Amino acid sequence: MDKLRIMSVFGTRPEAIKMCPLVRELSTRPEIESLCCVTAQHRQMLDSVLEVFDLKPDWDLDIMTPRQTLSTITSKCLLGMDGAIDALKPDMILVHGDTSTTFAGALSAFYHQVPVGHVEAGLRTYDKYSPFPEEMNRKLVSTIADLYFCPTVNNRDNLLREGISQGVFVTGNTVIDALKTTVREDYHFATEELNHLPYGERKIILVTCHRRENYGKPMKHIMLALRQIAEQHTDVELVYPVHLSPVVREAVDAYLRGAPRVHLIDPLPADEMHNLMARCYMVMTDSGGLQEEAPALGKPVLVLRRETERPEAVEAGTVKLAGVVQDDIVTMAERLICDREAYARMAHAVNPYGDGNACRRIADAILWHFGRGEKPADYQA
Ligand code: UD1
Ligand code: UDP
Repeated sequence: MDKLRIMSVFGTRPEAIKMCPLVRELSTRPEIESLCCVTAQHRQMLDSVLEVFDLKPDWDLDIMTPRQTLSTITSKCLLGMDGAIDALKPDMILVHGDTSTTFAGALSAFYHQVPVGHVEAGLRTYDKYSPFPEEMNRKLVSTIADLYFCPTVNNRDNLLREGISQGVFVTGNTVIDALKTTVREDYHFATEELNHLPYGERKIILVTCHRRENYGKPMKHIMLALRQIAEQHTDVELVYPVHLSPVVREAVDAYLRGAPRVHLIDPLPADEMHNLMARCYMVMTDSGGLQEEAPALGKPVLVLRRETERPEAVEAGTVKLAGVVQDDIVTMAERLICDREAYARMAHAVNPYGDGNACRRIADAILWHFGRGEKPADYQA
């Protein structure tokens, strides 16, 4: 029998971190030819992940331009995907999450009548503009997909409420699979500065911020809150790997650069980032991925957003929504910095997003879909 040609499509840093372990798992299956097409919606930040996971794509659309708009990303991905699908002839296309690459990848698959598997399916805020444009991207992909790989039972229930019940699997999130390969107790940082941070003596707060709906006033409030925290607490150091988006960099330069005890550094390779997270005191972020990783590492997270599509760790008590107003962010951070009991209540490891075997379950489900294997049991976190 011919091998199944399963093509994973991704383009940004988080998609790559969460898809590389899956591309690798698929390549271990004798029934599958695992193919990889990158859009390179991110260039440097994507290449960094490919290097960490030692993955060479079969096709590269190389679409990134500085300050790209949503329309240019989507249209360039669509045009480029025609060539990739014609050349690689996939039996199924896998997309991940909710980026413009995800949406365009799924739409292109549909145009070519290739079935779609949606990895990290079923996340919702039910606010069409927040996160923007991600909430709409993932909803649109839900209407196109044939297989749905939900990280949690809650994500599956969201799909069921929308009338989607066929081909739905609860698998856990592949980010936990990735973390299992990167975090090590004896890890030595290639970024020398990170080996010399005062981990035991000061509270290291790991910060990231990049969301489009935070551009403008919310990002200004976030930066000013971070500045205030650093200025007022001499026992704290902020480590902030700054996203390469020029909009983000401008906000950082305008409101945060020059504050004491703030380390503004370039984006870190995924293995460096994960090990820094494992050693930090707490995390402040508007990132989706960090909300999943930090709880697994026992680190409290303050989310710099008004809402989250990841309520599981909020319910488990390790993540809190801090919002995007300066005073609120400072108040919530100070509580964790100064109140030992409040900190202890949040700093416990939980794994609502998986046990590190999501890729295995997804590969099994794909084989079942094509009649080449048993149906895998759902994972109940
Ligand atoms: C994208 C995703 C977002 C995801 C985020 C992860 C969309 C609409 N947004 O947002 O869901 O959370 O990635 O980080 O799909 N840039 C570089 N080099 C890079 C990467 C980005 O220079 O390696 C700069 C470019 O100027 C680029 C800009 O950042 O135009 C913004 O990148 P873009 O992919 O459009 O949006 P993100 O905010 O990164
Ligand atoms: N990350 C990284 N280096 C950094 C910042 C983040 O490797 O300098 C990782 C992080 O650990 C997580 C992922 O990138 O796995 C999250 O990506 P991002 O915050 O860009 O996007 P989101 O998850 O919000 O879509």
